[in-house]
Amino acid sequence: MKYDVIVLGAGAAGLMAAATAGQAGARVLLLDHADKAGKKILISGGGRCNFTNLGTEAECFLSDNPHFCKSALAKYTQWDFIALVDRHGIAWHEKTLGQLFCDGSARQVVAMLLEECSRGGVDVRLSTQIGEIGHGDGFFRVAGATAGQLVIATGGPSIPKMGATGIAYQIAQRFGLPVVPPRPALVPLTLGSDAQAFREISGVACAVTARVGTAAFTEAALFTHKGLSGPAILQVSSYWKPGEPVVLTLVGNAVEMLRAARRHAPRSRLRSALSAHLPNRLADVLSARIGLEKELGNSSDADLGRVAEHLTQLTFHPTGTEGFAKAEVTAGGISTQALSSQTMEAKSVPGLYIIGEAVDVTGWLGGYNFQWAWSSAWAAGVAI
Ligand code: FDA
Repeated sequence: MKYDVIVLGAGAAGLMAAATAGQAGARVLLLDHADKAGKKILISGGGRCNFTNLGTEAECFLSDNPHFCKSALAKYTQWDFIALVDRHGIAWHEKTLGQLFCDGSARQVVAMLLEECSRGGVDVRLSTQIGEIGHGDGFFRVAGATAGQLVIATGGPSIPKMGATGIAYQIAQRFGLPVVPPRPALVPLTLGSDAQAFREISGVACAVTARVGTAAFTEAALFTHKGLSGPAILQVSSYWKPGEPVVLTLVGNAVEMLRAARRHAPRSRLRSALSAHLPNRLADVLSARIGLEKELGNSSDADLGRVAEHLTQLTFHPTGTEGFAKAEVTAGGISTQALSSQTMEAKSVPGLYIIGEAVDVTGWLGGYNFQWAWSSAWAAGVAI
């Protein structure tokens, strides 16, 4: 069969690109090995799909070239996607920090994208293996179909049990495109024996500012039996490199807090001062670790300063991450150096486009990754 465009991957980016190109008049084939389109959309946001973020801007993305994402994000913005969602009558709400979720179900987003594909006359072929990709005379040949343009929207290898694969990198290799080494991102961190005490409080969460290098996020952290998780940790995990410490601030104004406790309750001990600000079990572990036995009224400024340091700079040395099996996204990917930021077309292979998570552009937690999928897909879809 002859088409104008073959899109590989019926996930967020592939559905959007196929619909956009189809509605612009192209004959489009959309292929996926999965038996359902948009599987990651369906499980995203706890089943409600955090489909964009009101605060989307280039600063919320990691890439070897932090400027690359600007053009696509400016051409198809969060407001454009919200307008699409509104046109389909999907009710939504802002949960926190600009994160927009469906009131109902992520299924509505997949249904919307499939309806847009059907409006564009897109042929959707699921449960189909890609196999060898042929290329010659200006045409790409995949799974018995031929087209002048090929869009790679097969995502990254995070959560392989959802059908995720690193096929985009094999395709990149086939066409001589460089790949920034992929790594798990938005992923829980594992801790070694130095954090044994914190394993006892697996399941305890608290608001923190988490820091890795200059990256800092104020959200919840969660202690797990393997180490650290929760939104603040997932955010800094994308910036973390082996050997780097993760520093948590549990109480921002710790010195003032401790002095106030000493003034107002001089007979009390550290444990009770901490439990006024932190979950009880965390207060237990921390006060045992800090080991200030005196009543607060008998504690010097130097004592309180030492305690404050623990509360503002609780430092962990992760041994690693929980890997692609638990990573919400993959950082790294096909190098932006090889692509046009206007159209996502490979500079060295006319007609070949790479979009979505397969590209070395990774968003923060909070709807940014879907917005990148929509924006990069739209940029390619209108260019085709
Ligand atoms: P995506 O992974 O969506 O699609 C790739 C498609 O290619 C899939 O359909 C796959 O089956 C297909 N494919 C892969 N290999 C293939 C092969 N060898 N042959 C044929 N087909 C192949 N982001 C966000 O912004 N808000 C959120 O709420 C969430 N929530 C969330 C929860 C969980 C549990 C995960 C794992 C991820 C998220 N994300 C998220 C991230 C978001 O899901 C992700 O960034 C986008 O789905 C990326 O879109 P793509 O289309 O690039 O890849």
